[in-house]
Amino acid sequence: MTTLLELKNLRRAFYGLDVLRGVDFSVAADGITGLIGPNGAGKTTLFNVVSGLVPPDAGSIRFAGQEIGGLSPDKVSRAGLVRTFQVARGFPRLSVFQHLMLYGRDQPGESLWHAVLDTRAARDRESALAERAWETARFLRLDRLIDNPALALSGGQKKLLEIGRALMADPKLVLLDEPTAGVNPTLRNEIGERLLELPRRGVSVLLIEHDMGFIAELCDPVIVMAEGRVLAQGRFEAVRNDPRVREAYLGRRAA
Ligand SMILES: Nc1ncnc2c1ncn2[C@@H]1O[C@H](COP(=O)(O)OP(=O)(O)OP(=O)(O)O)[C@@H](O)[C@H]1O
Ligand SMILES: [Mg+2]
Repeated sequence: MTTLLELKNLRRAFYGLDVLRGVDFSVAADGITGLIGPNGAGKTTLFNVVSGLVPPDAGSIRFAGQEIGGLSPDKVSRAGLVRTFQVARGFPRLSVFQHLMLYGRDQPGESLWHAVLDTRAARDRESALAERAWETARFLRLDRLIDNPALALSGGQKKLLEIGRALMADPKLVLLDEPTAGVNPTLRNEIGERLLELPRRGVSVLLIEHDMGFIAELCDPVIVMAEGRVLAQGRFEAVRNDPRVREAYLGRRAA
């Protein structure tokens, strides 16, 4: 099994509060790895650090054989690691198609320059990108909605568009932060089915989710974080029955 992402002793504090307190784990290629843990465990912060949004205070992030710790989000994304956000971001008035096109460009400045020049190469690149946007929309069953503005999509469809946006960057690994939060059960299953296809398309997944049914169906292995550290990892059944994991969840609920 090939290791795609390897985190060693990853640390990050905010205002003197240690949020990541030495995180170590690996993500294998060609699978779906789950990342769970109680509220405030540091899961989103971990995504922020790994994706380059927030630099680490210490530790190493190796991705596809390269150290990416401290690189800008742009460089991390170009290395093939792309994340989505817990709260979807974007441009509500842009259509599904425009969203996908926007995020498929390597270099916004460069494409703008080419567009101004209106060269043959630029037109070819533009139509290849459009083809890719259509293919992504079809894959996510958003093709019938391709001209709708993002604001006219349902909550679940917005989540699918967010995944589409990540796929347009041609990633090796996507980090998904709660891809089914607030989504109805039918669309939740639809999103699950789409995600199961990704490893077959050469896209590995690391996903944060609080819905344990969803985690059990999709993820192997599952990594459990609590208080800024990895508490347990393994198959879902095994980590679920781990007394330390139960205690971490119960402790939070009682607090
Ligand atoms: N930029 C920041 N400045 C200050 N504190 C931060 C910042 N980012 C995260 N934190 C703190 O880090 C802790 C962990 O937050 P994080 O969002 O990573 O948790 P989480 O595991 O994703 O939780 P949830 O499951 O609720 O989404 C919280 O106490 C949060 O307030
Ligand atoms: Mg979070």
